Amino acid sequence: MSSTEARGSWGSRVGFILAAAGSAIGLGNIWGFPTRVGQGGGAVFVLVYLACVFLVCAPILMAELAVGRASRRSPVGALRVLLPGTRWWVVGALGVLAGVGILSFYAVIAGWTLAYVYFSASGTLTSVPAGELFARFTANGPLTTGLALIILALTAAILWKGVQGGIERASRAMMPALFVLLVVLAARALTLPGASAGIAYYLRPDPSKLLDPRIVSTALGQAFFSLSLGMGTMITYGSYMRRADSIAVGALWVVVLDTAIALLAGFVVFPAGFSIPGFDPASSGTGLIFTVLPRLFGSMPGGHLFGAAFFLLLVLAALTSTISLLEVPVAYLIDEHGWTRHRAVAAVTALTFVLATPSALSNGASAALTRLPGLGMGFLDLMAHLWNDFALPLGGVLLSVVVGYAWGIDCALDELRAEGARMPGARLWGGLIRYLCPVAIGGILLGAVLG
Ligand code: PFF
Repeated sequence: MSSTEARGSWGSRVGFILAAAGSAIGLGNIWGFPTRVGQGGGAVFVLVYLACVFLVCAPILMAELAVGRASRRSPVGALRVLLPGTRWWVVGALGVLAGVGILSFYAVIAGWTLAYVYFSASGTLTSVPAGELFARFTANGPLTTGLALIILALTAAILWKGVQGGIERASRAMMPALFVLLVVLAARALTLPGASAGIAYYLRPDPSKLLDPRIVSTALGQAFFSLSLGMGTMITYGSYMRRADSIAVGALWVVVLDTAIALLAGFVVFPAGFSIPGFDPASSGTGLIFTVLPRLFGSMPGGHLFGAAFFLLLVLAALTSTISLLEVPVAYLIDEHGWTRHRAVAAVTALTFVLATPSALSNGASAALTRLPGLGMGFLDLMAHLWNDFALPLGGVLLSVVVGYAWGIDCALDELRAEGARMPGARLWGGLIRYLCPVAIGGILLGAVLG
């Protein structure tokens, strides 16, 4: 077997796009994006987010895919192969850590989602006040920890089977269904009384917020998180890509699909939220969708079925993301340390579960973890903040320096144009990677650290 065959590869171009979009589309779009729009003051956040996606993240996505495909390795090995004798592999190592760190809190929220499938189907969701249900449920430590464990076990089970069989099949089935359901929910939300205030909040920018540096830094972090960038996931997924497929076209699809789903989620959550008297998007925090959506389902005939279907699809969307998070450290152990896939999956899953426990206990179960002394936030929120807003943009800025200067734009363009692939805007891409990405991300990170 050649090394490529031994590592596995996507079965087709569509297979790659579905798997990469499956990684990108997840809780980040449907839970994270509306939550952060709410905390960041509405339409201004949306605008800054879109600028980050298209000017910074799309070029970095192409760079990550090129690094992966050129080296046929996961992040650490990729940088060792492309830049032998240097220390740039450290950028890959940061990604391996981020994979475990992000998965540890992500699995907890995915676990909540799983419980909400049951709450919807059983009718609890529409009979108990939503805020009360959320608070009571998340304070149940053994339950939320157990649910996170179920999510991790499901993730491990999919990865156990290897790349193509597991990941591709999982992605193919659920994404169109998720899209259709979101459109139906948005249509219902938009006809609720009060919906127009939600739309105004979501789409009409408040200029006084435009210069808030915190908004820029969380929008950038959110864009990285949503597109699975800055930690080598897309290097790993690129390493399974065939040379005959265009990276630029694949990347564009992923960016457009991911952004469309996030924007659509906003059209569900804000009109529905503003139809609730006294709704304040900023004060709902992590629980935003879990408190707003039950009201929406309650307003629909057969709402408990819509609710159950919605949360089930969200669990599936989360799983196609968790497998990509787990795949980074797993591929690292396989590629760099010669571990078997099964051993790597078991070890990383166990480690992640240990780290997930404090997050699971940080929404009411443990007072100290719910409000960390001196920080004013819970452990889960702290993890999300550190990994999303710092680690991922840091990984992104380092990657743009690696590709722009160390590996070099010309080598990267050779990969992007492999086998005659179309690469429109090559010069623009090079300029964004060499100048805009390092300066913009570096500046925003510095501002966030100093501020
Ligand atoms: N992009 C995923 C989401 O939006 O839910 C989360 C994620 C997956 C982040 C994979 C980073 C990653 F490497």
